[in-house]
This record gives sequence, C-alpha cells and structure tokens, in this order.
Amino acid sequence: MTLLAFETSCDETSAAVIQDGRVLSTLVSSQIRLHSEYGGVVPELAAREHLRNLMPVAQGVLRDARVAPSQLDAVAATRGPGLPSALMVGFKAAQAMAFALQRPFVGIHHHEAHLYSPWIAGHPPAADFAAFQPNVSLIVSGGHTMLVKVESELKHRLLGATVDDAAGECFDKIGKLMGLPYPAGPEIDRLAERGNPGAFDFPRPMIQDVNDDFSFSGLKTSVRYFLRDHPGLTEDIRALSDVCASVQAAIVDVLVAKTLRAAGRMRVGCVTASGGVTRNNSLRHRLKAACEQSGLELRLAQPDLCTDNAAMIGILAERKLLRQAGAPPMFEEVLPGWQLDEALEA
Ligand code: KG4
Ligand code: ZN
Repeated sequence: MTLLAFETSCDETSAAVIQDGRVLSTLVSSQIRLHSEYGGVVPELAAREHLRNLMPVAQGVLRDARVAPSQLDAVAATRGPGLPSALMVGFKAAQAMAFALQRPFVGIHHHEAHLYSPWIAGHPPAADFAAFQPNVSLIVSGGHTMLVKVESELKHRLLGATVDDAAGECFDKIGKLMGLPYPAGPEIDRLAERGNPGAFDFPRPMIQDVNDDFSFSGLKTSVRYFLRDHPGLTEDIRALSDVCASVQAAIVDVLVAKTLRAAGRMRVGCVTASGGVTRNNSLRHRLKAACEQSGLELRLAQPDLCTDNAAMIGILAERKLLRQAGAPPMFEEVLPGWQLDEALEA
C-alpha cells in the first residue's frame, strides 16, 4: 500500500510517502524563523505559510519517492488537534487530492500519531510494535504533555495530561524571560550541557502526586521571581548555563519520575517517548538510565521524528486502513480540539 500523508497542525508543513510500513520520503518545511520574531506561533501567518509551502513539499516527496499521484492508494492528513486555520490547509488539500484521485482519505488524530513515531526508525513497525504492548507513552512538546497507555495497536487510554502549560511551552517561556530566542528548548538544552543542574533549586510541580497529570506554570513563575531577585545574573554565561541546567533538571525530573511511576503502576514492560521535547539530550539520557534500572524497554522517537512530521501521520493511516473494514468516510471534518480517548470513536 502506498500513501501520501500531510501534517499542518501547527508551524511545520510536512508531507511523506509511506509504503508498506516504511517511509519512502519525507520533508518538513519549518516556519520557526518566521514566528521567532513574535516569540510564538501566529496562527494566521502559519496558515498562509502552509498555503505557500504545501504543494512544493508534496511534489518534493512524490519526486523523492519516485511515486506518481496515480500510484497512490490513499491520502491522509492530520484532522486535529491543532490550530484550526493551519489544520484546514493540509486537511482540505489532502481531501481534495483524494477526491480527485478517487482514493480513500484518512483523517488522523495528531497525538495518536505521535504514539507511533518511536516505531518508525528503520524497523518493521508492525512486528516490532506488537512485541512491546502494552506500553506507557510520554508525548511531550510545545503544545502537549501527556501520558498514554497503549493497550494494543490502535487501542489507547489517556492517563494524564498537563493542567496548564506544556513542558516545551515552559522551556520556551522561561527562555524568553532570559532573553533566549524562540523556541528556547534547544538553546536551553545546549547551554545546560556546560551548567550545573544542582546550582539552583527550582520546584518540581506535582512530582509526588499519585495521578498522571502535570503542571509547569508554577515552575515558570518561580523562575520569573528568581530572575527578578537576581538582576543581571544571566548576563554571565556561566550563571546562565547554571540556570538553564537547573531549570532543565526540574522539568526532566518531573517527566522521568511520572513516566516511570505510571509504567510501574500499569505493569507494562515498555516505555516510549515522542514530541519535540524528546529531542532534549538530558531527557533522553535520564529516561534511558531510569528504564535500564527498572528493567523496562525504552523506545524513543529518533530526533528528526520527535517534532511534528507527516511520516507518523502516514504510518498510522496505513495501519488504520489495513485494520478497517470498508472504505473510510470521504467527508470527515477537521476537529481542532478533541481528546485522545475520543479518537477511538471518531
Ligand atoms: O513537537 P513540536 O515540534 O511541536 C509542538 O509543540 O507540537 O515541539 C516543539 C517544542 C518547543 O517547545 C521546543 O522548545 C521543544 O519542542 N524542543 C525542545 C528541544 N527541541 C525542541 N525542548 C527541550 N530540548 C530540546 N532539545
Ligand atoms: Zn505534536
């Protein structure tokens, strides 16, 4: 089966060609530079950029994969959650393409697709995936932070999510307070490498709570007051590196502790992680060490598949088409905000 997939839920215009569980080609056109001037994603600008970039990106992946549109068996796109105007561009273009080619169209839940991205990296996803069910999956990015139990293929249960800011949002907002460019996550990661994670003691919100929810706005506020009380501190590169390392340690401590606790409580043998923050070096190392210590398998999305991409949309769309009886509905609609649990019924 050969599919063309699109992802336009936020600030990345991405397309991918998937064939029999493998990624033949994928392209991501990032808008980060455009939005960095505003310190965050501007929805209207994102939608306009998607309009500009979608067709070149689609033509690029078809060319790279040496696949003609007539050879496609289906077209897929992110249905939600995401920025409504941004989602609309990729979703409607994909739907129109499917209609013109008279092929099935599959609308995909963005978070559900993240759950499958750790299984893409060069392995045969289906066989591999089946061996590690059930698992507990951490999805952590600029827009979301959640723990999900993957019971079996296409069967998931949301365990908990952030009650305020996402972890990536926390990295970005704290970076902004320190004058770092948007998105600040990668910059904090880089600076933290030379800093002391024990230099400053920032709070680890909800780390002891028995539920699987997260909260990061209190940490952000604590850093805001700390910087107010230490004016000029972060002008010194060593002090800045120490603050970055200490902030990162607080966020990573919470993510690792809660993920491992959920895995223990759910009695699973495997943990997976995906989303932009999963690119963070400390998070990757700490999850690896914690899982090794607890005898758990760990599957991390490969760095270029952590952030939003169409490959994960296509991989999930193919699994859904293979499992689904009958043709998928042609006239699904965009759903800008809907829960992962509801994805099973959608
Ligand atoms: O998954 P993603 O591309 O988009 C969504 O938010 O859905 O994730 C982007 C987020 C940003 O908040 C960015 O700061 C964060 O991922 N991020 C990182 C790193 N690389 C990206 N955070 C910490 N360390 C990194 N190396
Ligand atoms: Zn995402």
